Amino acid sequence: MNIAIITGASSGLGIEFLREISASRTDIDEIWLIARRLDRLNEIASEFSNIKCVPLSLDLSSEESYAALDDKLNSDNYNVKLLVNNAGFGKMGNIKDIPYPSQTSMVDLNCKGLTAVAAICLKHMSRGSEIINVCSIASFVPNPRLTVYSSTKAYVLSFTKGLREELKPYGINCMCVCPGPMKTEFFAVADIAPGSSKAFDTLPYSDPAKVARGTLKASKKGRCVYTHLMFFKFYRVLAKLLPHNLLMKISKV
Ligand SMILES: NC(=O)c1ccc[n+]([C@@H]2O[C@H](COP(=O)([O-])OP(=O)(O)OC[C@H]3O[C@@H](n4cnc5c(N)ncnc54)[C@H](OP(=O)(O)O)[C@@H]3O)[C@@H](O)[C@H]2O)c1
Repeated sequence: MNIAIITGASSGLGIEFLREISASRTDIDEIWLIARRLDRLNEIASEFSNIKCVPLSLDLSSEESYAALDDKLNSDNYNVKLLVNNAGFGKMGNIKDIPYPSQTSMVDLNCKGLTAVAAICLKHMSRGSEIINVCSIASFVPNPRLTVYSSTKAYVLSFTKGLREELKPYGINCMCVCPGPMKTEFFAVADIAPGSSKAFDTLPYSDPAKVARGTLKASKKGRCVYTHLMFFKFYRVLAKLLPHNLLMKISKV
């Protein structure tokens, strides 16, 4: 059975990936929706009656959840056609002011969780399968006051490029999407309120539905990195050309 797996499917960009995949991917028989809030996943699953959705309540920063996902995938003949590794969060503030568990839990989910899910799913992928890792423009240059978050996303970018090379001989595409700000629950979780960050008050915002659509198209074309909006494509080029010490004058949030 061909399946798609979306992590962080209970809100924001994850729901937009679900909407797009359910509307456009006739090669997928069912979609597994992973997040912690089961009530939200059940509600979302009931809204998508055109495709079978399987809600799975898993905390992707915990080892038990990796074992549970591994067991479920081993329980039948599943072919993971598409993995959208989307669950992630950030916390804004200086490292010295934020309790360290909030900092390390970003690493646990954004890096360890993403890596574990990719490694577990890979055993059930075949030629033509796709991995989409949700990264961020924060991966291009460190963002002071989002230092740990931007570091975790730099890991996602590097992990994606390395894994992509490893998977080329097997015909599996691995890419990442690097969105700019999108109006989702991300901001409440990150403690970013209007007026608390000049950068977030002035940057252009992306529509998560367009980000999801553009990403899925880019993945089908075998692209490595997708960035939505010209503004952020230009920023990505600058980040390759200019010293990061200079760019960090503007990348501080
Ligand atoms: N919004 C932005 O401005 C922006 C910009 C660039 C990149 N991104 C990235 O986009 C991705 C999606 O974020 P979003 O904007 O859609 O934010 P969101 O609305 O807060 O969604 C985050 C999702 O991750 C899930 N999640 C959080 N902790 C989890 C855990 N421990 N285990 C399993 N699932 C967990 C949440 O569900 P539960 O709470 O139910 O577990 C939720 O479904 C993230 O990787 C984020 O870093 C966001």
